[in-house]
Amino acid sequence: MKLLVLGGTAWLGGTVAAEAVARGADVVCLARGTSGSVPGGARLVVADRDDPAALDAVRHEHWDAVVDVARQPGHVRNAVAALEPVAGRYVFVSTANVYADQRTLGQDEDSPLLAPLESDLMASMEEYGPAKAACEQAVVTTFGADRCLIARAGLIGGPGDRSGRTGYWPWRFAHPSNDEGRVLVPDALDRPTAVVDVRDLAAWLVDVAERGTAGVFDAVGQPLPLGEALETARSVGGGSTTLTPAGEQWLADHGVEEWSGPASLPLWLRDPDWWGMNARTGARARAAGLTNRPLADTFTDLLAWEEQRANPHGAGLTDDEERELLAALA
Ligand SMILES: NC(=O)c1ccc[n+]([C@@H]2O[C@H](COP(=O)([O-])OP(=O)(O)OC[C@H]3O[C@@H](n4cnc5c(N)ncnc54)[C@H](OP(=O)(O)O)[C@@H]3O)[C@@H](O)[C@H]2O)c1
Repeated sequence: MKLLVLGGTAWLGGTVAAEAVARGADVVCLARGTSGSVPGGARLVVADRDDPAALDAVRHEHWDAVVDVARQPGHVRNAVAALEPVAGRYVFVSTANVYADQRTLGQDEDSPLLAPLESDLMASMEEYGPAKAACEQAVVTTFGADRCLIARAGLIGGPGDRSGRTGYWPWRFAHPSNDEGRVLVPDALDRPTAVVDVRDLAAWLVDVAERGTAGVFDAVGQPLPLGEALETARSVGGGSTTLTPAGEQWLADHGVEEWSGPASLPLWLRDPDWWGMNARTGARARAAGLTNRPLADTFTDLLAWEEQRANPHGAGLTDDEERELLAALA
């Protein structure tokens, strides 16, 4: 297979490129090269997609498939116009953020979407969902539904997750902040959560690019209660730790953020308007071959990866923060 990856210098795109190279594909990645390098065996074409002529170096040869991870509608509108005459099919990595209703649990791909962004440029991450909806629209309109696949990814986790959202928990259980081994968790253990391992997602994206599978798919992890995910992280982290739940209002009152970032408890979603994001069925993608490895395997490999980082968690609580909160809770 001759595969063009638009991206490939960052996490998911790089994993897709590496997977395709491992299967013997001829892989070219197009990016600026500012996010990193491309995996061994792939070739980087340096181009800035803000430039309307960015695709010139790749628009005159045939591609069996294109995989695109862009988020700017202008980048995708330009790419599909340039590549439709020379590419067999287009696989676009979208997001579950395109859905209008993030509250209802158990939804599938037929639920309503946000209105697509008209502008070529998303002004801020507030427009991420509409921007990705606009990207999807450009792909389907130009390539036609039979020649494209839209993969609406849920939260991606696994080794390489620099956000720390999925790495914090196995790391925290392996490195408790206090001698008693108490780990602060939100008292929201029945809340849905779902993580799709970056390697499972990348392997499936290469599968569908090879097979020419078309359609719209939620490429998500298997939903499970947050408490189950935390127990899995605890079993991977080892040691004799215990979960210490704190009330959601209490956490908010003490400045603890939900979901991600500094001073947060990652994966915790307090706002019911977002609970559905982690509870999409993903049945259609699984029927089309997406395989979700056990969360314990993802956490085990994540922990090994986190242990090698200088700053082991990009999200969550520092030791001092957790100790202070545990003392205040007592
Ligand atoms: N992380 C999650 O949990 C999550 C959840 C749902 C969906 N997603 C989706 O999953 C994908 C993640 O992809 P990723 O990790 O490979 O990439 P990423 O972190 O989104 O990086 C974007 C890629 O596009 C390239 N790029 C950005 N601006 C460019 C420009 N002006 N010209 C040329 N290339 C440009 C970057 O390379 P250079 O900087 O080197 O140019 C990089 O390779 C995205 O589509 C994201 O929306 C993520």
